[in-house]
Amino acid sequence: MDLTACSTPLLQAHTGPSIGHPFKGIFLGSRHNTMTELWQNAMDHAVALARKAGSLVRDAVQNDMKVMLKSSSVDLVTKTDQKVEQLIIDSVKEKFPTHSFIGEESVAAGEPCVLTDNPTWIVDPVDGTTNFVHGYPFVAVSIGFAVNKKLEFGVVYSCIEDKMYTARTGQGAFCNGQPLHVSDQKEITQSIIATEFGSNRDTEVVDKIFSSMRKILCLPIHGIRGVGTAATNMCLVASGCVEAYYEIGMHCWDIAAGAVIVTEAGGVLMDVDGGPLDLMSRRVVAANNKMIAERIVKEIDAFTPLRDDAPIETKD
Ligand code: IPD
Ligand code: CA
Repeated sequence: MDLTACSTPLLQAHTGPSIGHPFKGIFLGSRHNTMTELWQNAMDHAVALARKAGSLVRDAVQNDMKVMLKSSSVDLVTKTDQKVEQLIIDSVKEKFPTHSFIGEESVAAGEPCVLTDNPTWIVDPVDGTTNFVHGYPFVAVSIGFAVNKKLEFGVVYSCIEDKMYTARTGQGAFCNGQPLHVSDQKEITQSIIATEFGSNRDTEVVDKIFSSMRKILCLPIHGIRGVGTAATNMCLVASGCVEAYYEIGMHCWDIAAGAVIVTEAGGVLMDVDGGPLDLMSRRVVAANNKMIAERIVKEIDAFTPLRDDAPIETKD
């Protein structure tokens, strides 16, 4: 999956011959072999890290926590977000010293948010920080991994539920080792759609969010849901519990891992204008099929938040 808007297909065939690879009979050189093994090592490490991070998050939910603010009074961060991200960075640097890193709290601290061709870990240490602060039981550790701007794997650990979602490009999606598949529902009127209010409280933006929701709800659909973490919403699409999730305003670290999990479970991704997903654009539609995705697109009052990879001087 190419991560910046362009004409390449959303789901690229996995080019490495690893165990269980579905494209048999394709000649693949030894460099591919090495890379495939290396990315598998990285994925195994990501799963171990997500589990460790999730256990820290789970323990911290029980305790009092100091809540700090980022861009606004509703954009929260805690010491746990920072500690967990540091743990992941330190471990990745030690094991894969040449890899790059995009992490929510590093970016908040002024690190650049630019995706290059270098192998890059895209991490949200605590997706659902507001839930975490309030003890609302959906919090995820989200780790995506891209090479040459294409996602190779995604790991989302919904740590309160103890659900480990994993997917590697070309090799399917799983939850606690069980294969995942999106819903086969074709009728939007028989669907549940997930979305979020995000953390922007500008009235113009809030009006657009409500207007889109109102139009979608009144199609009519069975219901609107949202568990307060983009990564988990995407895993719910992959699990077939909701037909789609859309949002404008989340960040690349909220959806990088989930993007692989959705496509590997048979779903589709697109921009809210129906074009290809651009990971840095802060807009996403993830759905069980193209028909449902395009039906949602028709109802969304789109807007354009500042891109994740906008130059730092344009962010205040
Ligand atoms: C947020 C969650 C939320 C979504 C926001 C994200 P955070 O991430 O994913 O569901 O609506 O747009 O920023 O701040 O909890 O990591
Ligand atoms: Ca977060």
